[in-house]
Amino acid sequence: MKLQYLSSKELASRLPFTHPPEPRKEFLISSPSEGVYIGKTKFLNVPVFWNPEKLINPHIAIIGITGSGKSYTVKTFLTRAALIWNTNAIVLDWVGEYVDWVRQAGGRILDLSKERLNILDLVGLPPHTRIAHVLSSFDVLANLKSHPEERDDIEEALEEAYKKIKKPTLADVVRLLEKKGKRKAARILKTFLTEGSDFFAGKTTFDVKSLISSGLVCVDLHNLPTEEIRSLAGLTLLQYVKELMRMQSFEEESKRIKLFVVLDEAWKIAGDENSDVVAIVREGRKYNFSLIIATQTPTDMNKIIFSNVGTLFVLRLVLKEYRDYVRSSVGYSSFIDSQISRFGVGNAAVNMIFAEQQLRSSTFLLDRIDGEEPLLIYRLKGGEMEIEVEREQFVRMLYDMGLNEDQVAIVKRAFEKEDGILQGEDLVLLLEKFGFSKSSIISFLRQLGLDEKNLIKIFSVVKLKRASKGVVHLVME
Ligand SMILES: Nc1ncnc2c1ncn2[C@@H]1O[C@H](COP(=O)(O)OP(=O)(O)O)[C@@H](O)[C@H]1O
Ligand SMILES: [Mg+2]
Repeated sequence: MKLQYLSSKELASRLPFTHPPEPRKEFLISSPSEGVYIGKTKFLNVPVFWNPEKLINPHIAIIGITGSGKSYTVKTFLTRAALIWNTNAIVLDWVGEYVDWVRQAGGRILDLSKERLNILDLVGLPPHTRIAHVLSSFDVLANLKSHPEERDDIEEALEEAYKKIKKPTLADVVRLLEKKGKRKAARILKTFLTEGSDFFAGKTTFDVKSLISSGLVCVDLHNLPTEEIRSLAGLTLLQYVKELMRMQSFEEESKRIKLFVVLDEAWKIAGDENSDVVAIVREGRKYNFSLIIATQTPTDMNKIIFSNVGTLFVLRLVLKEYRDYVRSSVGYSSFIDSQISRFGVGNAAVNMIFAEQQLRSSTFLLDRIDGEEPLLIYRLKGGEMEIEVEREQFVRMLYDMGLNEDQVAIVKRAFEKEDGILQGEDLVLLLEKFGFSKSSIISFLRQLGLDEKNLIKIFSVVKLKRASKGVVHLVME
């Protein structure tokens, strides 16, 4: 704290010191197994946990200039949320900045530039509904509403395509328009069919459904040839996610999040009132789908999103126009507004709407987003092998195996005592002590990459250690 550097005279001149109100402690504090730890409040140092049970909805918006820490906040958040709830998450990554992190976290990367996507796939919908969705995409991305004639032409061509062609694609629609001499309409759609790219001109090559139930998935859009193609792909996937969401059953009693949908720098697709982003915000709560949206341009984000998300992180914002836009949507003091313009990396103002207080929202300052430390590597030694594993990944595997929080903490301490290194036999002895069977321990070690020969070596040392009650230090061979 800066206070200790002030002389008593300076200090006296600042007293009595008042600070903006912070929400009641019971709203902010949750047990680490029920909420995602975010950081501490600036003035009263209260730890803040994000707990969907306490919020009016599970949606999150993050705004701030480039470099203010938006993506870092998302990564920290998802890493912790995965440990607590084992939730699925799909990241629509416009700039490719999640790829490495998702890979390290053991997630799946879908590089869209190596795939094809047929935006006319029905995914269980009747053609007229899908047509409406496709048209709404073009309303958002090609401003089709201000070309009513072409909009009608495109609608007709879409209807014809579904009638005449078995599995039509966007390329078929363009061909139909050209055949009918509707050149202007065809030209509008052609901007999404850049030459040399048949991304939208074939059968979809990946399973859309599996994207929302495969743990952490990064849909990497950044290698697609143009911004138009990226946007249409992103928007289409979002529509599919929305439809899949609507096919789920409600779970009235539980607020356990099923899926986090992350849109980072998704400019253009979140501004329109009719956008699917807004639909997910409106309906997501009842399906336990959570939208996380981050942007550096708040004016691109529809006000409905701002005023409806349960949690808003405002990181550093400089432009007055942007600050005013946010402040007028959320409403906080001029003191907080002036702080926001002076924030350093990781500083944040947080606005939360708590379920108990209903529509009254509170904005408070966070000292900083207390992020995950840089990647730490654990090394497990066994026989002649040394296995390297990223710490968060290893911890996740421990939870998957069935360890509870206390047990995980014991294992972590064992590694940390030796600078991140642990002997395989010591890990086995710990897991045995926790009551895990030999076979489950063996399959865990195999999963880590230990081979049979070294597994045998580890277990023979375990046997010797157990016989000597672990007192004697053994030197192998
Ligand atoms: N809360 C934080 N604590 C520590 N470092 C941070 C924090 N937030 C961001 N950073 C670092 O600042 C840099 C920019 O953050 P990033 O999340 O990429 O910004 P943005 O997505 O807003 O452009 C990154 O190197 C990141 O590691
Ligand atoms: Mg970013």
